[in-house]
Amino acid sequence: MKSVAIVCADNLTTNRQAADGLIAEKLFQPIKIGGLELSNRIAMAPMSRYFCADGTPHEKVSAYYSRRALNQVGLIITEATYIGHPTAPSYEGVPYFAGEAALAGWAKVRAAVHAAGGKIMPQLWHTGSFRNSAMAPQPGVPGVGPSENLNAFTGHPEPTKAMTDNDIIEVIEAYAEAAEAAQRLGFDGVEIHGAHGYLIDEFLWATSNRRADRYGGNRRERTRFAVEVIEAMRSRVGPDFPISFRYSQWKQQDYKAVLGETPGELAEVLEPLVDAGVSIMHCSTRRMWEPGFAAENDMTLAGWTKKITGLPVIAVGGVGLDRPGLNAAEVAPLDVIEKPLARNEFDVLAVGRALLADPAWAMKVKQGRSDEGVGYSKEQLKSLF
Ligand SMILES: Cc1cc2nc3c(=O)[nH]c(=O)nc-3n(C[C@H](O)[C@H](O)[C@H](O)COP(=O)(O)O)c2cc1C
Repeated sequence: MKSVAIVCADNLTTNRQAADGLIAEKLFQPIKIGGLELSNRIAMAPMSRYFCADGTPHEKVSAYYSRRALNQVGLIITEATYIGHPTAPSYEGVPYFAGEAALAGWAKVRAAVHAAGGKIMPQLWHTGSFRNSAMAPQPGVPGVGPSENLNAFTGHPEPTKAMTDNDIIEVIEAYAEAAEAAQRLGFDGVEIHGAHGYLIDEFLWATSNRRADRYGGNRRERTRFAVEVIEAMRSRVGPDFPISFRYSQWKQQDYKAVLGETPGELAEVLEPLVDAGVSIMHCSTRRMWEPGFAAENDMTLAGWTKKITGLPVIAVGGVGLDRPGLNAAEVAPLDVIEKPLARNEFDVLAVGRALLADPAWAMKVKQGRSDEGVGYSKEQLKSLF
């Protein structure tokens, strides 16, 4: 009896390795998307790590990213990094993408990732109404958003300010400067953090954008701020520099929130971003294999995003993580991506926690050793390895 059970377990492992192997073969093909040439289709999802006490990326940050690049991650999307405007920062330990020291630190990170054979783009961040006004470099500067007092949604105790036209001009300029700096420092593109309820998303979402001027109104009108950010960046970096835009239906203060209830409504939000000059869409979901619009069919949100925009799409959410039936320390099989991959619903797969947990996750997947992976746990957030 005992030996039969062992044979079955071995067979299961072998079948799983074979299935994962076929998927891995497709993922580890070189690909060109939106002007970016990648050695494979695995990206590291942007993940804030809060290890840059003075806002400057240091050697451990270089080692952290280049370790993943060395282990077969084709594209690193960095942790969110603050644009150079006093209203942008909220949390300690987040690096800036502005100022001499921080940019010198980023130049070293970029060089280390390139030396390891990877590509890298910074994710540019303004925290909007999530701002904690005690944050340097200008404590006392209040949080800003499309409308006032959105802190009621964010849970921050302090009132926030509705942006004036002048605030908008200044913040757009800070985004453009950051994009120009990324290009000057040799990065392979930039990603705009337009997701999860932060500043840009606050403009897109009806609940947080109650403006009566040209930055508010219907879905298309609410994209104006994002559109002007993209246009300003595009005019500074030229037509070919990759600009990725990360969006999400969900907001961190409301997982059920949506920008569009239907594909048609979502198109009203995404189309203006494409016209403004985005080259890649990054569609942030919590489980990438779930249907984007359950009332329609089983196409993923990444698939809908590709269909609506015609742009290359990065999918993300829940890949490589423990699921029911697995041991806590075991890495999940890749079966969830099989269908959307076969249907060409995404171009690149971003992976967050599985890669945070195990720098060699992608290498192990490529070599059919994913069952040797290390499972994710919150304990791992305490160090940068
Ligand atoms: C520790 C941590 C930090 C994160 N920080 C960011 C961030 O800075 N910017 C962002 O767009 N998403 C952030 N996310 C979301 C991830 O990019 C990703 O979308 C999410 O973890 C789902 O992917 P996964 O299931 O592969 O982890 C973060 C997630 C984690 C776990």
